[in-house]
Amino acid sequence: MVRRGKKGGKRHARSQEDEYCPSLSDFKTKKLLGKGGCGAVFLVRKVKGPGCGNLFAMKKIHTSSVRTAEREVLHAMSGQPFFPALHWSFLTEDSQCLVMDYVKGVEILEMMAKQRLTLAKVKFYAAELLSAVDHLHKHGIVHRDIKNDNVMVDEEGHVCLIDFGLAKRLATDQEAADLWSLGVLLFEMWAGEFPFPEDADREVTRR
Ligand SMILES: Nc1ncnc2c1ncn2[C@@H]1O[C@H](COP(=O)(O)OP(=O)(O)OP(=O)(O)O)[C@@H](O)[C@H]1O
Ligand SMILES: [Mg+2]
Repeated sequence: MVRRGKKGGKRHARSQEDEYCPSLSDFKTKKLLGKGGCGAVFLVRKVKGPGCGNLFAMKKIHTSSVRTAEREVLHAMSGQPFFPALHWSFLTEDSQCLVMDYVKGVEILEMMAKQRLTLAKVKFYAAELLSAVDHLHKHGIVHRDIKNDNVMVDEEGHVCLIDFGLAKRLATDQEAADLWSLGVLLFEMWAGEFPFPEDADREVTRR
């Protein structure tokens, strides 16, 4: 649902009670955390209003690529372990801004690049990721993009599943897509390499 804020800006209302709607000027950008095809994620500090002084991650998605599902999935998963909570979402002239928990940690991708993970760690991450995927599926959502740069490990060593840009409402038997990519990721974490030859990648993924 999109409403107009006091100053005329459009915003997404999260509930009847939640009347506060931030704007870009409520945040100070500290650094770029990641950049993708549809936008970028920034580390920001809230400098006004509720949450003032705290750090958040802000995903800015170009209006041309806005996917309602991403905001809805983040909202639905907020408060569940292994997901960043969504705090606010609002629209600027050219972007949708999703303000979520800042995961202070590293992508699994970076971890794997530094050292081979122990089997004990791989099993621990597997258990947490399965629990995360189970939450999604129970809410009727399929992630569809589980891979080593969409899984982060926080400072306490727990996983956090991010990036719902491709997430969709679940249709019959689509859970298999997430189980497949989770299986590939687990193998990759343990072996340090992709389970298929480079040139088989596209063909296998398509199947
Ligand atoms: N909540 C977060 N806390 C810390 N870093 C994050 C957070 N969300 C995203 N990042 C960082 O930003 C990178 C890009 O984010 P994300 O995966 O959501 O978008 P993307 O892959 O660029 O976008 P898309 O595929 O939706 O176009 C992540 O790989 C991660 O390094
Ligand atoms: Mg991503």
